Amino acid sequence: MSFLKRDRDNFDPALRQAFKHNLMSHPLLQFDELKKLALRHPTVRFHSANLPRTQSLDTVVHERPTGFSLEDSLENISTSGSFVFIMDVQKDPIYAPFVNALLDEIEGDVNKKQSNLRNRQAWVFITSPGGVTPYHRDQEAATYFHIKGKKTFWLWDALDRDIVSQEENEYFHGVHGLKKTLYSESKMDKAEKFEINPGDGIYFPYTAPHMVENGADEFSISFSVTHMTDEDFNARRIYKINQILRKLGFSPSDMNHSKVIDSLKLSLHFFLRYSLFPFNLGWNRNE
Ligand SMILES: [Fe+2]
Repeated sequence: MSFLKRDRDNFDPALRQAFKHNLMSHPLLQFDELKKLALRHPTVRFHSANLPRTQSLDTVVHERPTGFSLEDSLENISTSGSFVFIMDVQKDPIYAPFVNALLDEIEGDVNKKQSNLRNRQAWVFITSPGGVTPYHRDQEAATYFHIKGKKTFWLWDALDRDIVSQEENEYFHGVHGLKKTLYSESKMDKAEKFEINPGDGIYFPYTAPHMVENGADEFSISFSVTHMTDEDFNARRIYKINQILRKLGFSPSDMNHSKVIDSLKLSLHFFLRYSLFPFNLGWNRNE
């Protein structure tokens, strides 16, 4: 059975694109079932959904509490002004087979152009009417399924240096933080805008910036499965090395400037990761 409807022959995991899907009526993605998941799951984050576009997601939980419990936030999701984020859904034994079936299908498409899809994860987003997910980037490539309600979704190109600078990449990958991932009104000119309804989906490549606003009339549910590939890990590794070189006083070239230099940086990363482990930089051998 196929979950996604898209042009599979022309799918390129390096490019953003919309698709259609048939998961709106899937029993595991209905609100009552997701509420049960949220209340039994160990990793659920929730905070106010009434946020400015500039809010950092690194600090939102502490800076923007709702004042409600998780259960009350969900029970009154139409009025509680909440954003509920269920993380690592693939770890739930009821959801795991479903998540894996989806990612098996995605892997077949992705691995035609990239290598070794891994870091399989899944996430659920439940948002009160009018809620905002501020401008940010994630550490993975996402296949995003919209299930309920309406959303406006803006997506940017992570390779556009007017949007994501080399310096931002070095910080983002170096410390896995969003301090330099900043929204500005001027970025809106370069955003691709999607008005999404149940049955719509968006694929966005590794670390592509995005921002979401929920429709004012009803709460929404979205579900995404994410992955990384060898190409994604290599990008992260090159920017990690760049950050170290910059701290040492060098001015390293950007990724994709030279294949030779990129491969030297990957060799240096490999050396540091294996020779100094476990004393180096908090890295592990899979990174
Ligand atoms: Fe995101």
